[in-house]
Amino acid sequence: MTSPRNVFRGVGAISAATEEICKRHAGERVLVLISSVMRARRGARLLLEEIARESDLAVQEVEGEPTTERIDALARTFCEQPPSVIIALGGGSVLDTAKALSGCLGSQASSLELLDAPEAIRRTAMLYAIPTTAGSGSEVTNISILTHGTRKRGLVSDAIVPDMVVLDPSFLQETPLALRLYTLLDTTGHAIEASWSKDATDVTDMYAADSLGRITHRAEEYLSYDQWNNLELLCCFQTASMHAGCAFTVAGCNVVHALAYALVDQQPLSHGKSVGMALLPTIAFFEEHRKIVPSLASHQRWHEKLLRLYAPWEHRVYQGAKPVLDIDRAARTTFDNQRLMSHFPDELSEDVLRRLLTSINERITTHTVK
Ligand SMILES: [Fe+2]
Repeated sequence: MTSPRNVFRGVGAISAATEEICKRHAGERVLVLISSVMRARRGARLLLEEIARESDLAVQEVEGEPTTERIDALARTFCEQPPSVIIALGGGSVLDTAKALSGCLGSQASSLELLDAPEAIRRTAMLYAIPTTAGSGSEVTNISILTHGTRKRGLVSDAIVPDMVVLDPSFLQETPLALRLYTLLDTTGHAIEASWSKDATDVTDMYAADSLGRITHRAEEYLSYDQWNNLELLCCFQTASMHAGCAFTVAGCNVVHALAYALVDQQPLSHGKSVGMALLPTIAFFEEHRKIVPSLASHQRWHEKLLRLYAPWEHRVYQGAKPVLDIDRAARTTFDNQRLMSHFPDELSEDVLRRLLTSINERITTHTVK
Protein backbone atom coordinates (compact mmCIF):
# COMPACT_ATOMS: atom_id res chain seq x y z
CA MET A 1 0.00 0.00 0.00
CA THR A 2 1.46 3.34 -1.07
CA SER A 3 0.37 6.23 1.13
CA PRO A 4 1.26 9.91 1.51
CA ARG A 5 4.40 10.53 3.57
CA ASN A 6 3.12 13.72 5.20
CA VAL A 7 -0.32 14.42 6.61
CA PHE A 8 -1.15 17.83 8.10
CA ARG A 9 -4.45 17.57 9.91
CA GLY A 10 -6.63 19.76 12.12
CA VAL A 11 -7.21 23.43 12.82
CA GLY A 12 -4.33 25.46 11.35
CA ALA A 13 -3.14 22.59 9.12
CA ILE A 14 -3.13 24.82 6.03
CA SER A 15 -0.82 27.39 7.70
CA ALA A 16 1.62 24.71 8.83
CA ALA A 17 1.58 23.09 5.40
CA THR A 18 2.05 26.44 3.63
CA GLU A 19 5.15 27.12 5.72
CA GLU A 20 6.54 23.67 4.94
CA ILE A 21 5.82 23.96 1.20
CA CYS A 22 7.52 27.37 0.98
CA LYS A 23 10.53 26.03 2.85
CA ARG A 24 10.87 22.97 0.65
CA HIS A 25 10.25 24.60 -2.72
CA ALA A 26 11.68 28.12 -2.60
CA GLY A 27 12.65 29.23 -6.10
CA GLU A 28 10.97 26.26 -7.81
CA ARG A 29 8.06 26.26 -10.25
CA VAL A 30 4.85 25.46 -8.35
CA LEU A 31 1.52 24.80 -10.06
CA VAL A 32 -1.64 25.18 -7.97
CA LEU A 33 -4.85 23.68 -9.35
CA ILE A 34 -7.77 25.20 -7.51
CA SER A 35 -11.56 25.38 -7.75
CA SER A 36 -12.76 28.96 -8.30
CA VAL A 37 -15.05 28.87 -5.26
CA MET A 38 -12.09 28.08 -2.99
CA ARG A 39 -9.82 30.79 -4.35
CA ALA A 40 -11.38 33.47 -2.12
CA ARG A 41 -11.02 31.43 1.08
CA ARG A 42 -8.57 32.81 3.59
CA GLY A 43 -6.43 29.65 3.81
CA ALA A 44 -6.21 29.40 0.02
CA ARG A 45 -5.38 33.09 -0.39
CA LEU A 46 -2.57 32.87 2.13
CA LEU A 47 -1.18 29.74 0.46
CA LEU A 48 -1.12 31.45 -2.95
CA GLU A 49 0.37 34.69 -1.57
CA GLU A 50 3.12 32.89 0.34
CA ILE A 51 4.07 30.63 -2.57
CA ALA A 52 4.07 33.60 -4.98
CA ARG A 53 6.54 35.34 -2.67
CA GLU A 54 8.92 32.37 -2.48
CA SER A 55 8.51 30.52 -5.77
CA ASP A 56 7.56 30.72 -9.44
CA LEU A 57 3.80 30.26 -9.02
CA ALA A 58 1.31 29.23 -11.72
CA VAL A 59 -2.37 29.05 -10.81
CA GLN A 60 -4.94 27.15 -12.83
CA GLU A 61 -8.64 27.13 -11.98
CA VAL A 62 -10.32 23.77 -12.47
CA GLU A 63 -14.07 23.29 -12.91
CA GLY A 64 -16.10 20.13 -13.47
CA GLU A 65 -15.16 16.48 -13.47
CA PRO A 66 -11.91 15.66 -15.31
CA THR A 67 -12.13 14.50 -18.90
CA THR A 68 -9.30 13.12 -21.01
CA GLU A 69 -9.56 16.22 -23.24
CA ARG A 70 -9.21 18.63 -20.30
CA ILE A 71 -6.25 16.73 -18.86
CA ASP A 72 -4.47 16.68 -22.23
CA ALA A 73 -5.12 20.41 -22.72
CA LEU A 74 -3.61 21.14 -19.29
CA ALA A 75 -0.63 18.90 -20.07
CA ARG A 76 -0.03 20.87 -23.29
CA THR A 77 -0.20 24.15 -21.34
CA PHE A 78 2.36 23.11 -18.75
CA CYS A 79 4.71 20.76 -20.67
CA GLU A 80 7.06 23.55 -21.81
CA GLN A 81 7.81 24.65 -18.26
CA PRO A 82 6.79 21.67 -16.14
CA PRO A 83 6.28 22.37 -12.44
CA SER A 84 8.36 20.60 -9.82
CA VAL A 85 5.33 20.61 -7.51
CA ILE A 86 1.62 20.29 -8.25
CA ILE A 87 -0.77 21.32 -5.48
CA ALA A 88 -4.48 20.43 -5.76
CA LEU A 89 -6.84 22.51 -3.63
CA GLY A 90 -10.49 21.60 -4.12
CA GLY A 91 -12.92 18.70 -4.22
CA GLY A 92 -12.36 15.20 -5.63
CA SER A 93 -12.46 16.43 -9.23
CA VAL A 94 -9.62 18.92 -8.67
CA LEU A 95 -7.57 16.22 -6.93
CA ASP A 96 -8.24 13.71 -9.71
CA THR A 97 -7.26 16.33 -12.30
CA ALA A 98 -3.95 16.97 -10.53
CA LYS A 99 -3.21 13.25 -10.20
CA ALA A 100 -3.85 12.56 -13.88
CA LEU A 101 -1.96 15.69 -14.98
CA SER A 102 1.06 14.72 -12.88
CA GLY A 103 1.09 11.31 -14.61
CA CYS A 104 0.79 12.83 -18.10
CA LEU A 105 3.57 15.38 -17.51
CA GLY A 106 5.89 12.82 -15.92
CA SER A 107 5.29 10.19 -18.61
CA GLN A 108 5.03 12.64 -21.53
CA ALA A 109 1.98 10.74 -22.71
CA SER A 110 -1.69 11.50 -23.29
CA SER A 111 -4.25 10.53 -20.67
CA LEU A 112 -5.80 7.97 -23.02
CA GLU A 113 -2.41 6.34 -23.62
CA LEU A 114 -1.97 6.07 -19.85
CA LEU A 115 -5.50 4.70 -19.34
CA ASP A 116 -4.61 1.94 -21.80
CA ALA A 117 -1.12 1.33 -20.35
CA PRO A 118 -1.06 2.42 -16.68
CA GLU A 119 2.25 0.61 -16.13
CA ALA A 120 3.85 3.40 -18.20
CA ILE A 121 2.81 6.07 -15.68
CA ARG A 122 5.74 8.01 -14.23
CA ARG A 123 5.61 11.10 -12.06
CA THR A 124 8.40 13.65 -11.76
CA ALA A 125 6.60 16.46 -9.87
CA MET A 126 5.78 16.30 -6.18
CA LEU A 127 2.02 16.07 -5.64
CA TYR A 128 0.25 17.65 -2.68
CA ALA A 129 -3.49 17.24 -2.02
CA ILE A 130 -5.65 19.69 -0.06
CA PRO A 131 -9.21 18.33 -0.21
CA THR A 132 -12.02 20.81 0.46
CA THR A 133 -14.78 18.22 0.64
CA ALA A 134 -14.87 15.08 2.78
CA GLY A 135 -15.89 12.27 0.47
CA SER A 136 -13.73 11.07 -2.38
CA GLY A 137 -10.70 9.97 -0.36
CA SER A 138 -8.77 10.88 -3.53
CA GLU A 139 -6.02 12.44 -1.40
CA VAL A 140 -4.76 8.95 -0.49
CA THR A 141 -5.85 6.73 -3.37
CA ASN A 142 -3.98 5.48 -6.43
CA ILE A 143 -6.86 6.20 -8.81
CA SER A 144 -8.04 9.18 -10.84
CA ILE A 145 -11.48 8.86 -12.44
CA LEU A 146 -11.54 10.36 -15.94
CA THR A 147 -14.42 10.71 -18.38
CA HIS A 148 -13.58 9.64 -21.89
CA GLY A 149 -16.52 10.16 -24.26
CA THR A 150 -19.52 9.00 -22.24
CA ARG A 151 -17.54 6.48 -20.18
CA LYS A 152 -15.86 6.94 -16.83
CA ARG A 153 -12.54 5.14 -16.60
CA GLY A 154 -10.07 4.77 -13.75
CA LEU A 155 -6.44 5.75 -14.21
CA VAL A 156 -4.80 3.47 -11.66
CA SER A 157 -1.18 3.63 -10.54
CA ASP A 158 0.70 3.92 -7.26
CA ALA A 159 2.74 6.64 -9.02
CA ILE A 160 -0.17 9.09 -8.65
CA VAL A 161 -0.67 8.70 -4.89
CA PRO A 162 -0.06 12.19 -3.44
CA ASP A 163 3.07 12.82 -1.36
CA MET A 164 1.39 15.19 1.09
CA VAL A 165 -2.18 15.55 2.40
CA VAL A 166 -3.53 18.63 4.16
CA LEU A 167 -6.84 18.23 6.00
CA ASP A 168 -7.91 21.61 7.34
CA PRO A 169 -11.52 21.65 8.62
CA SER A 170 -11.98 25.35 7.79
CA PHE A 171 -12.39 24.40 4.11
CA LEU A 172 -15.52 22.41 4.96
CA GLN A 173 -17.30 25.16 6.87
CA GLU A 174 -19.41 26.50 4.03
CA THR A 175 -20.19 23.21 2.31
CA PRO A 176 -23.90 23.21 1.32
CA LEU A 177 -26.01 20.50 2.93
CA ALA A 178 -26.67 18.58 -0.31
CA LEU A 179 -22.93 18.38 -1.05
CA ARG A 180 -22.21 17.36 2.51
CA LEU A 181 -24.79 14.56 2.28
CA TYR A 182 -23.68 13.28 -1.13
CA THR A 183 -19.99 13.28 -0.25
CA LEU A 184 -20.80 11.46 2.99
CA LEU A 185 -22.69 8.81 1.01
CA ASP A 186 -19.64 8.45 -1.25
CA THR A 187 -17.43 7.88 1.81
CA THR A 188 -19.95 5.39 3.16
CA GLY A 189 -19.86 3.50 -0.14
CA HIS A 190 -16.04 3.39 -0.08
CA ALA A 191 -15.98 2.09 3.49
CA ILE A 192 -18.73 -0.53 3.28
CA GLU A 193 -17.66 -1.81 -0.15
CA ALA A 194 -14.04 -2.10 1.04
CA SER A 195 -15.28 -4.10 4.03
CA TRP A 196 -17.31 -6.41 1.72
CA SER A 197 -14.39 -6.85 -0.67
CA LYS A 198 -12.77 -10.24 -1.15
CA ASP A 199 -9.46 -8.35 -1.34
CA ALA A 200 -9.88 -6.80 2.11
CA THR A 201 -6.96 -7.22 4.53
CA ASP A 202 -6.68 -6.72 8.28
CA VAL A 203 -5.36 -3.22 7.58
CA THR A 204 -8.13 -2.22 5.17
CA ASP A 205 -10.74 -3.69 7.56
CA MET A 206 -9.31 -1.49 10.31
CA TYR A 207 -9.56 1.65 8.16
CA ALA A 208 -13.06 0.75 6.91
CA ALA A 209 -14.32 0.05 10.44
CA ASP A 210 -12.88 3.35 11.69
CA SER A 211 -14.64 5.21 8.90
CA LEU A 212 -17.96 3.41 9.40
CA GLY A 213 -17.71 3.99 13.15
CA ARG A 214 -17.28 7.75 12.66
CA ILE A 215 -20.17 7.82 10.19
CA THR A 216 -22.64 5.80 12.25
CA HIS A 217 -21.79 7.63 15.50
CA ARG A 218 -21.68 11.21 14.30
CA ALA A 219 -23.36 11.64 10.89
CA GLU A 220 -26.53 13.02 12.42
CA GLU A 221 -24.49 15.83 14.02
CA TYR A 222 -22.52 16.32 10.80
CA LEU A 223 -25.72 16.83 8.82
CA SER A 224 -27.34 19.26 11.25
CA TYR A 225 -27.14 23.03 10.76
CA ASP A 226 -26.31 23.88 14.35
CA GLN A 227 -22.99 22.01 14.04
CA TRP A 228 -21.89 23.76 10.84
CA ASN A 229 -18.85 25.40 12.47
CA ASN A 230 -17.83 22.58 14.78
CA LEU A 231 -14.25 22.20 13.52
CA GLU A 232 -13.55 19.09 15.57
CA LEU A 233 -16.58 17.40 13.98
CA LEU A 234 -15.55 18.49 10.48
CA CYS A 235 -12.07 17.15 11.11
CA CYS A 236 -13.58 13.83 12.24
CA PHE A 237 -15.31 13.48 8.85
CA GLN A 238 -12.21 14.48 6.88
CA THR A 239 -10.52 11.59 8.65
CA ALA A 240 -13.49 9.28 7.93
CA SER A 241 -13.13 10.10 4.25
CA MET A 242 -9.35 9.64 4.22
CA HIS A 243 -9.56 6.33 6.07
CA ALA A 244 -12.25 5.04 3.70
CA GLY A 245 -9.84 6.02 0.90
CA CYS A 246 -7.04 4.03 2.58
CA ALA A 247 -9.41 1.02 2.73
CA PHE A 248 -10.70 1.04 -0.85
CA THR A 249 -7.42 1.93 -2.54
CA VAL A 250 -6.31 -1.62 -1.60
CA ALA A 251 -9.56 -3.59 -1.16
CA GLY A 252 -11.45 -1.91 -4.02
CA CYS A 253 -14.99 -0.66 -4.39
CA ASN A 254 -17.40 -3.02 -6.07
CA VAL A 255 -21.12 -3.40 -6.70
CA VAL A 256 -22.38 -0.04 -5.37
CA HIS A 257 -19.87 2.01 -7.37
CA ALA A 258 -20.40 -0.22 -10.42
CA LEU A 259 -24.17 0.43 -10.20
CA ALA A 260 -23.51 4.15 -9.66
CA TYR A 261 -21.45 4.33 -12.86
CA ALA A 262 -24.24 2.53 -14.74
CA LEU A 263 -26.72 5.14 -13.47
CA VAL A 264 -24.48 8.00 -14.61
CA ASP A 265 -24.23 6.30 -17.98
CA GLN A 266 -27.94 7.07 -18.53
CA GLN A 267 -28.42 10.44 -16.80
CA PRO A 268 -26.24 13.25 -15.44
CA LEU A 269 -25.76 12.80 -11.68
CA SER A 270 -22.99 13.86 -9.35
CA HIS A 271 -20.78 10.99 -8.22
CA GLY A 272 -21.90 11.14 -4.59
CA LYS A 273 -25.60 11.26 -5.47
CA SER A 274 -25.31 8.28 -7.81
CA VAL A 275 -23.44 6.31 -5.13
CA GLY A 276 -26.12 7.18 -2.57
CA MET A 277 -28.90 6.11 -4.95
CA ALA A 278 -27.21 2.73 -5.45
CA LEU A 279 -26.05 2.25 -1.86
CA LEU A 280 -29.31 2.24 0.09
CA PRO A 281 -31.28 -0.34 -1.96
CA THR A 282 -28.18 -2.52 -2.29
CA ILE A 283 -27.70 -2.77 1.47
CA ALA A 284 -31.46 -3.33 1.98
CA PHE A 285 -31.44 -6.04 -0.72
CA PHE A 286 -28.48 -7.86 0.82
CA GLU A 287 -30.21 -7.79 4.21
CA GLU A 288 -33.45 -9.10 2.71
CA HIS A 289 -31.78 -11.84 0.64
CA ARG A 290 -28.95 -13.07 2.80
CA LYS A 291 -28.76 -16.37 0.91
CA ILE A 292 -27.67 -14.57 -2.27
CA VAL A 293 -24.65 -13.06 -0.54
CA PRO A 294 -23.79 -15.40 2.38
CA SER A 295 -20.34 -13.88 2.84
CA LEU A 296 -21.84 -10.57 3.98
CA ALA A 297 -23.55 -12.06 7.05
CA SER A 298 -20.93 -10.62 9.38
CA HIS A 299 -21.69 -7.09 8.15
CA GLN A 300 -25.28 -7.09 9.38
CA ARG A 301 -24.44 -4.74 12.26
CA TRP A 302 -23.19 -2.04 9.87
CA HIS A 303 -26.04 -2.61 7.43
CA GLU A 304 -28.70 -2.07 10.07
CA LYS A 305 -27.02 1.06 11.40
CA LEU A 306 -26.55 2.57 7.94
CA LEU A 307 -30.14 1.89 6.87
CA ARG A 308 -31.41 3.53 10.05
CA LEU A 309 -29.06 6.49 9.64
CA TYR A 310 -29.99 7.28 6.05
CA ALA A 311 -33.76 6.55 6.20
CA PRO A 312 -34.64 10.22 6.94
CA TRP A 313 -32.42 11.38 4.04
CA GLU A 314 -33.84 9.13 1.33
CA HIS A 315 -35.99 11.85 -0.16
CA ARG A 316 -32.96 14.08 -0.73
CA VAL A 317 -30.97 11.20 -2.19
CA TYR A 318 -33.52 10.41 -4.92
CA GLN A 319 -35.06 13.86 -5.41
CA GLY A 320 -34.63 15.12 -8.97
CA ALA A 321 -33.39 11.81 -10.42
CA LYS A 322 -35.09 10.10 -13.34
CA PRO A 323 -35.90 6.38 -13.41
CA VAL A 324 -33.36 4.21 -15.25
CA LEU A 325 -34.91 3.74 -18.70
CA ASP A 326 -32.87 0.79 -19.90
CA ILE A 327 -32.49 -1.58 -16.96
CA ASP A 328 -31.06 -4.39 -19.11
CA ARG A 329 -28.30 -2.13 -20.40
CA ALA A 330 -27.53 -0.83 -16.89
CA ALA A 331 -27.36 -4.40 -15.53
CA ARG A 332 -24.98 -5.41 -18.30
CA THR A 333 -22.80 -2.31 -17.82
CA THR A 334 -22.58 -3.10 -14.10
CA PHE A 335 -21.86 -6.80 -14.70
CA ASP A 336 -19.17 -5.97 -17.27
CA ASN A 337 -17.39 -3.52 -14.95
CA GLN A 338 -14.87 -6.11 -13.92
CA ARG A 339 -12.42 -3.55 -12.52
CA LEU A 340 -14.96 -3.11 -9.70
CA MET A 341 -17.09 -6.27 -9.71
CA SER A 342 -14.04 -8.53 -9.40
CA HIS A 343 -13.63 -7.30 -5.80
CA PHE A 344 -17.08 -8.51 -4.75
CA PRO A 345 -16.92 -11.77 -2.78
CA ASP A 346 -19.95 -13.50 -4.36
CA GLU A 347 -20.97 -13.89 -7.98
CA LEU A 348 -23.83 -11.50 -8.70
CA SER A 349 -25.81 -12.51 -11.81
CA GLU A 350 -27.25 -10.00 -14.26
CA ASP A 351 -30.66 -11.02 -12.91
CA VAL A 352 -29.68 -9.93 -9.37
CA LEU A 353 -28.33 -6.66 -10.79
CA ARG A 354 -31.62 -6.11 -12.67
CA ARG A 355 -33.50 -6.60 -9.39
CA LEU A 356 -31.23 -4.07 -7.67
CA LEU A 357 -31.79 -1.56 -10.48
CA THR A 358 -35.56 -2.14 -10.30
CA SER A 359 -35.40 -1.41 -6.60
CA ILE A 360 -33.47 1.83 -7.33
CA ASN A 361 -36.19 2.77 -9.84
CA GLU A 362 -38.93 2.12 -7.27
CA ARG A 363 -37.27 4.53 -4.86
CA ILE A 364 -36.79 7.16 -7.54
CA THR A 365 -40.48 6.89 -8.43
CA THR A 366 -41.56 7.05 -4.78
CA HIS A 367 -39.54 10.19 -4.12
CA THR A 368 -40.04 12.10 -7.35
CA VAL A 369 -43.63 11.38 -8.39
CA LYS A 370 -46.20 13.26 -6.33
FE1 LIG B 1 -16.60 7.15 -4.90
